[in-house]
Amino acid sequence: MSGRFITFEGGEGAGKSTQLRLLADALRGAGIDVLATREPGGSQGAEDIRRLLVEGEPGRWDATTEILLHYAARRDHLVRTVWPALSAGRWVLSDRFADSTEAYQGRGHGLPRHAIEQLYQLVVGAFAPDLTLILDLPVEEGLRRAAGRGGLEDRYERMGLEFHQRLRQGFLEIAKAQPRRCVVISAAAAAEEVHAAVLRVVRERFGAVVPA
Ligand code: TMP
Repeated sequence: MSGRFITFEGGEGAGKSTQLRLLADALRGAGIDVLATREPGGSQGAEDIRRLLVEGEPGRWDATTEILLHYAARRDHLVRTVWPALSAGRWVLSDRFADSTEAYQGRGHGLPRHAIEQLYQLVVGAFAPDLTLILDLPVEEGLRRAAGRGGLEDRYERMGLEFHQRLRQGFLEIAKAQPRRCVVISAAAAAEEVHAAVLRVVRERFGAVVPA
């Protein structure tokens, strides 16, 4: 696969979608063919599954059913959207990927790491992002920002403060364990400042693809 796969990760309200859009615009401005996508979702089947995951009561699924739904959505997204785009040489930017499963279903719900790794092997195989940007923000601030968005997609937002604190810790531990792939960026500053930090990391990793 000749394109690049960049994932954005973080808790609720960290500004991933905004940062993804800003990076996509910058890369496109530099003549790069970019596909912006998201998880759960990013293909027709995965968007159908998304509604089952992000709407409704927090206790709607037990943790194992929930992780299977996320991985079913991920498989469809990879097969129908991500892999074909990478094969065509496009840069794929995804709002969330498998680190969210490790953080939310692993640290948040307490599913064992070895089971999650087995699912990853089955569904994703040896494939992994070229770069993962983890946007980090204190949990209370993130939930406050997320609550302002409104809408039906608030199932995870309602899972409680401790759940969100565990998953924030989870993301930081993932970054520590995989420093070649992951970079933590503070999301506390204004969007433009966070964007500048994102661009610095992208230039460090991929060279001067975007003019300074
Ligand atoms: P979003 O609000 O960032 O689009 O993400 C939807 C929700 O799905 C978010 O609360 C995090 C959650 N999620 C998981 O719990 N596990 C996963 O593997 C993914 C991709 C998302």
